[in-house]
Amino acid sequence: MGNLWGGRFEKEMDAIVEEFNASISFDKRLYNCDIDASIAHVTMLGEQGIVTAEERASIVSALEGIREDIANGGLAFTAKQEDIHMAIEEALIARIGPTGKKMHTARSRNDQSQVDVRLYFMRETKKILEALTDLERALLEKAADNRDELMAGFTHMQHAQPVSIGFHMMAYFQMFRRDIERLMDARRRADKNPLGSGALAGTSFNIDRHRTSELLGFDAPAENAMDAVSDRDYIIEFLSAASISMMHVSRFAEEFVYWSSQEFGYISIDDSFCTGSSMMPQKKNPDIAELLRGKVGRVYGDLMGMLTVMKGTPLSFNKDFQEDKEPLFDAADTWRTSVSILAAMIKKTRFNPDAIQRHLSKGFPNATDMADYLVRQGIPFRESHGIVGKMVKLCERNSRGLADLEPADLVSIDPRFESMPLPDLSMMGCVRARTSFGGTAPTEVQRQITAGAEWLSSTQNHIGAPPRTPRGDLGPLDPV
Ligand code: ARG
Repeated sequence: MGNLWGGRFEKEMDAIVEEFNASISFDKRLYNCDIDASIAHVTMLGEQGIVTAEERASIVSALEGIREDIANGGLAFTAKQEDIHMAIEEALIARIGPTGKKMHTARSRNDQSQVDVRLYFMRETKKILEALTDLERALLEKAADNRDELMAGFTHMQHAQPVSIGFHMMAYFQMFRRDIERLMDARRRADKNPLGSGALAGTSFNIDRHRTSELLGFDAPAENAMDAVSDRDYIIEFLSAASISMMHVSRFAEEFVYWSSQEFGYISIDDSFCTGSSMMPQKKNPDIAELLRGKVGRVYGDLMGMLTVMKGTPLSFNKDFQEDKEPLFDAADTWRTSVSILAAMIKKTRFNPDAIQRHLSKGFPNATDMADYLVRQGIPFRESHGIVGKMVKLCERNSRGLADLEPADLVSIDPRFESMPLPDLSMMGCVRARTSFGGTAPTEVQRQITAGAEWLSSTQNHIGAPPRTPRGDLGPLDPV
């Protein structure tokens, strides 16, 4: 069989051109979405009297057979078929003859490919949201388990102030919370049905786009056909959200890498997330954390690629847009997998309180607390900052901590120390005192955990909600 569009052509495509032009090698993963969309389309055509009830039934049942054959690997794809849309249409015609030739009434591949990608998008992003919420749950658990365990808080990679491990975990919780909210927001805008837009200008057939939207579970039909076949904003929004979230994954992964180094020893990553060296028998390398750190690169690439593909393209459809799928697929796979692996790694990582304790008081992380204490004694902060700076300097000379300074040393720095005993400068004391909203005090971290858990369950209920509309005879939701 020649190409489905071959009527006006006198020559076959050059083989190398055929390969170059084809998208089937990657868009075959849309087959379930394509069949769901075709069934919705034909169901609507039947209801509108554009095809007969018998034709509709015959097309739908043949499409279900094709779905099964593809799932079982019983249908081979070739570049000659060009894309998944034509491969399925061709298989349909081969099965039921002339009736199959009616399926493409009142649609174009321009709206067809987009309804497929949007369906895929809605389904894949639901899985990514599930992975992200699982990660959030893991963070809440780690935070609750380590609410009272201390570690150094850093700025400029220098010891700054002591914090709790739970507090540090809750910082990541907030980052991934924003990622979830960003993706949910992108989904809300993407949830529009392009099917029935035709090639660019709609159709003269009496179709019902509200009905296909309902059948496919979309919020509404896309408003403008020309926009619907040319719009890839939702993919760019997705890739932006994926890039930001993968940047978060990368930052967290980097903490795993240095926390597990000999210099830190803060954590032991489970053996099942590490690899050895082919030469050095002693090595246990944090390869998985490093891969998580590096995977963001390809997702940024996907975003830049897609932004560049769209730049300067005139309305409406252009073949450039066929380049939308691989970045979307790549970023979706990478994001979902990375988030799942990060969650599993967090669950399996142990903190080593002894090692953390050994380092904790290095670098005077209680200096701010000392300065704050002087403020409470009536010394203006800028002045107390200077006094504590001098204390630090003195301690550094003698390798001592602030609390070890002798009364004589203190008085030599400032005579007011005569009548001021040193406060509790223990690391735990410093952490417990930071009760301001958003602070690291255990009571405050507990509040953050409780608020986070509440937000997470309401979000999970929202994500887990069944499709808004009955799916009728559309078969299973899960794509390949
Ligand atoms: N495979 C194409 C895509 O991915 C189909 C679009 C229609 N192609 C066309 N030449 N009108 O977008």
